[in-house]
Amino acid sequence: MSEAAKPTVTITLDDTGKSTKAPLLSGTLGTPCADIRKIYADLGIFTFDPGYGETGACESAITYIDGDQGILLHRGYPIEQLATKSTYTELCYALLNGDMPTTAQHDAFVDELKNHTMLHEQMRHFFNGFRRDAHPMSILCGVVGALSSFYHDSLDINKPEHRSLSALRLIAKMPTIAAYAYRYSFGFPFVYPRNDLGFAENFLYMMFSMPSEPYEVSPVLARAMDRILILHADHEQNASTSTVRLAGSTGANPFACIAAGIAALWGPAHGGANEAVLKMLDEIGSKDNIPDFIAKVKDKNSGVRLMGFGHRVYKNFDPRAKIMQQTCKEVLGELGITDDPQLEIAMELERIALSDDYFVQRKLYPNVDFYSGIILKAMGIPTSMFTVLFAMARTVGWISQWKEMVEEPTLRIGRPRQIYTGAPQRDLKPIAERG
Ligand code: ACO
Repeated sequence: MSEAAKPTVTITLDDTGKSTKAPLLSGTLGTPCADIRKIYADLGIFTFDPGYGETGACESAITYIDGDQGILLHRGYPIEQLATKSTYTELCYALLNGDMPTTAQHDAFVDELKNHTMLHEQMRHFFNGFRRDAHPMSILCGVVGALSSFYHDSLDINKPEHRSLSALRLIAKMPTIAAYAYRYSFGFPFVYPRNDLGFAENFLYMMFSMPSEPYEVSPVLARAMDRILILHADHEQNASTSTVRLAGSTGANPFACIAAGIAALWGPAHGGANEAVLKMLDEIGSKDNIPDFIAKVKDKNSGVRLMGFGHRVYKNFDPRAKIMQQTCKEVLGELGITDDPQLEIAMELERIALSDDYFVQRKLYPNVDFYSGIILKAMGIPTSMFTVLFAMARTVGWISQWKEMVEEPTLRIGRPRQIYTGAPQRDLKPIAERG
């Protein structure tokens, strides 16, 4: 298409009649975006979009979401196929490198990951600096940030080999850090990684085994964990990924950027939701209290939300939630859990919310966190660890998005604008004359 024939949006300032043409940019899939980069130069105005719901901040070839259709693709592959026909480490390879690996590529990648599963021995002392009752997300945030004090040989973001090495280190060490954070809170001895085990299997082994007795990881639970990791691996430009990109746009090192992502993920509106789901189920206490709880959720003045429901992007269903619902059944079956009171409350909430007008009209469906919380609890993982697991899974998404951004030749520091609502310029009086 010639330059002249490219579609544009014309934006006209009513009071001056001045206008500018914003070219319409399209990717391979999805809604076109008006390129407003010249709007200030041409019209002397900025755009206002709190929450960035209508704003594209980057081009990315990693993940595609169609929230209306409930579609999630990584490198073009539907999440349903990835969850049933591949493994987490295969997906890690694809997110980082552009396509799913062959067997030889996957074997080499897993071998490389295994070189990096251990933590620098000195890092173990870091854990002793935390209170035993510290939230494991605060430990994760601190220890991941501290990786930049230990791995100086992979901090030059301008060197491709440093970027790749940091990516491998982060993905490989995250399960070790997560398991140590858990074990520290109970005073259990730290368990070193076992490289003869698969990624999810090794994580469960580091979490639950004791040096004093043999421990076998259930293949059903390892598969369920692998699936949880797949379903949380990436989700395009969500709050934590955008935080990683924003931090990375300044040239900060990858460990610091991922620590920033972990901080953003911690909030209950994002990765903290699966923990919040379990807290909510606890608070409700019994099925009899559900009607009162639902009434509170509908009352705008109560500030109560039905945790694990709703999504900024998915407005019909969350494709990850469907897979997670199935995995939930498998895990509960494997563990022989049939009459868990929290589960009963969860199922009743799901039933009510899917038929109640309030939720139907607002297109509020269970999201991935609604079921993942139930599965993780059934596996014996404490609620405070739920968001840690999410962070562990998402590390590959964050670091892939970070790499993609750093490798972009037109990288600019992220710097939004504002509408200033403070005092106009005024003169400062000496302190004795104020008041
Ligand atoms: N419970 C009750 N009402 C809700 C909920 C909920 N969980 N979510 C949204 N609503 C209502 C809002 O009050 C609003 O109602 P109104 O139109 O009458 O004012 C309407 O639905 C739209 O809500 P928004 O806040 O505009 O939706 P938004 O897209 O900004 O929020 C979010 C999405 C943050 C996920 C929200 O649905 C929520 O807080 N859910 C609970 C927390 C949760 O589960 N988060 C996990 C998200 S998935 C993830 O991070 C992996």
